[in-house]
Amino acid sequence: MRISAPFGSFLLAAFASVASGAPRTLKLRQSIAPPRNWVDLGPAPPTHVIPLRIALPQPRFPELEEHLTEISDPFHERYGEHLSKEDVEALVAPHPSSVNAVHEWLESHGIRKEACHRSPAGDWVTVRLPVAQAEKMLGTEFRMWKHTQDGDVLVRTTEYSLPAHLDKHIELIQPTTAFNRAKGQHTTFRFSPVPDVAPSSLSDDKISVEGSGVTVDPSCNTTITVSCLKQLYNAVGYVPKATNKNAIALTGYLEEFANFADLQQFYADQVPAAVGSSFDVVLINGGQNNQTLDEAGPEADLDVQFGLGISFPTPGTFYSTGGRPPFIPDANTPENTNEPYQDHKIPQVISTSYADDEQTVPVDFARRVCGEFAQLGARGVSLLFSSGDGGVGDGDPDPATQTCFTNDGKNQTKFIPLFPPSCPFVTAVGGTVHIPEVAADFSGGGFSNYFLRPIWQQVAVGKFLASLPKGTYAGLFNPLGRAIPDVSAQSNFFRIFFQGRAVHIGGTSAAAPSFAAFVALLNDARIAAGKPSLGFLSPLIYALNGVGFHDITAGNAPGCGTPGFNATAGWDPVTGFGTPDFGKLKDIVLKF
Ligand SMILES: *[C@@H]1O[C@H](CO)[C@@H](O)[C@H](O)[C@H]1NC(C)=O
Ligand SMILES: *[C@@H]1O[C@H](CO)[C@@H](O)[C@H](O)[C@H]1NC(C)=O
Ligand SMILES: *[C@@H]1O[C@H](CO)[C@@H](O)[C@H](O)[C@H]1NC(C)=O
Ligand SMILES: *[C@@H]1O[C@H](CO)[C@@H](O)[C@H](O)[C@H]1NC(C)=O
Repeated sequence: MRISAPFGSFLLAAFASVASGAPRTLKLRQSIAPPRNWVDLGPAPPTHVIPLRIALPQPRFPELEEHLTEISDPFHERYGEHLSKEDVEALVAPHPSSVNAVHEWLESHGIRKEACHRSPAGDWVTVRLPVAQAEKMLGTEFRMWKHTQDGDVLVRTTEYSLPAHLDKHIELIQPTTAFNRAKGQHTTFRFSPVPDVAPSSLSDDKISVEGSGVTVDPSCNTTITVSCLKQLYNAVGYVPKATNKNAIALTGYLEEFANFADLQQFYADQVPAAVGSSFDVVLINGGQNNQTLDEAGPEADLDVQFGLGISFPTPGTFYSTGGRPPFIPDANTPENTNEPYQDHKIPQVISTSYADDEQTVPVDFARRVCGEFAQLGARGVSLLFSSGDGGVGDGDPDPATQTCFTNDGKNQTKFIPLFPPSCPFVTAVGGTVHIPEVAADFSGGGFSNYFLRPIWQQVAVGKFLASLPKGTYAGLFNPLGRAIPDVSAQSNFFRIFFQGRAVHIGGTSAAAPSFAAFVALLNDARIAAGKPSLGFLSPLIYALNGVGFHDITAGNAPGCGTPGFNATAGWDPVTGFGTPDFGKLKDIVLKF
């Protein structure tokens, strides 16, 4: 029997669509090798709902970047002229033709405009869809993936496609191929009993810090308190004045929250004047704050206690974010009630101690998220991220178990930088330890494989690279990449209260909120003098070229089976320019 022509071509088309895994009209947008350390558990349940975030191109983004460069450069006449929320939104808005094209496409799949959530600028459209429908629209198959080490399960795919006519109108869609998660950066968390009472700060024989005129209690060498950091970073006696305008925020992920009772114990121990004061909590995307003592997170407690303890009485906010991995301030899901960065007033300093290996984030997605940080910088917000706790990679000296291998299917050995710290529009904070300060051996550092080195880093980083013996770690890092960290701070033996007890905790997680708190105090001085906040910090830091910082010149941070880089005179990829001298920086920032 002859098969009639139409039936025949139908069969052919059906076969083609089975063979390619996608109807023919779709064009492959992204395909990745199955990522390392994830095992495929099989197809995702068809009814499982995923919040698909569609990024529309931002044709005016280069303009935003130009503004940001000018207003963050202390020698530019526009320094500090931050943009308003509306200015920024206009600069990231998509072209109307993209908005229409995306809605037509969604409507063709029965998704009405009202079912979509649009960011204020319209550059993100979020739509919650069952896996089965998302699979049809993206010509893909979502599967469940389990992380071999920590057991996390994600619903993801290794490729997705879109109609070819949407090439110009959709930049990317996630969560599809992004396997990044928010990981807290604390290498050391010791439950070993520590004294109930903080070491006395009344000791007579102080340690002198060479070359700075600073003296510090001897106990600070092994126990870091708020008082230690104020002494060491030259902020003793500074009284914040602009507390009605200035603010600091700490972010928590993985549903972590900070415990109010732990904070009160910490204050009684280290900042008596602050007893009875608290902070605002903003829940994002399923964040938690039930205050169950044994559910509070050590990371959150650390961030809040030191971030707020140092900057007291500057008002503080804790953003508790659920879901994973967010990192996208603007792309919240529709049921989300809080969109903190959509407020006109945002805290002028935000510290985050969560990150993941850069290579787990697809490069287009990393660029887009990094662009979101640029938007916050343009609005006058300083973003601090801990640089990581694995030196140049995973910090594991044993080549048999270390995980410094590329994810791209080639399985090459490479240093593994972390994202978001690798984004040039944030300021990455590395770690030091002891007095005199040396580099912490876990301090995350290195070079981005995604982001080129920004102009403000060229001189300092170029000098460091030129000082390396020829061929050092050739092929293991990208010598053209954005270099990490920018600065550093103490990062071990922090005395916090956690679940009602004093414990010691460490990691660059401790360094980031501490550094952020001193930035909040610098903002306080500026705002009290009628000046705008510092905003995006890195161009200023590199312009100072080490002035206002204690240069850290000893120690190294091993990783990936190597000794890693050394802390050296000047900028280095272990401690950046070093740790802050608040007194000097305050005088400097009042001049711009
Ligand atoms: C601080 O401790 C480190 C490590 O034990 C030691 O090398 C250093 O000498 C100590 N500093 C002082 C001032 O005692
Ligand atoms: C409190 O929040 C945590 C998340 O941090 C969660 O695991 C726990 O189940 C919550 N407890 C209650 C009583 O809601
Ligand atoms: C990658 O290479 C390392 C070292 O040769 C090996 O231990 C690891 O199993 C390899 N991984 C994969 C996914 O091939
Ligand atoms: C770090 O310093 C040590 C001691 O001076 C030196 O042997 C080593 O080559 C240096 N490493 C790098 C990567 O520069």
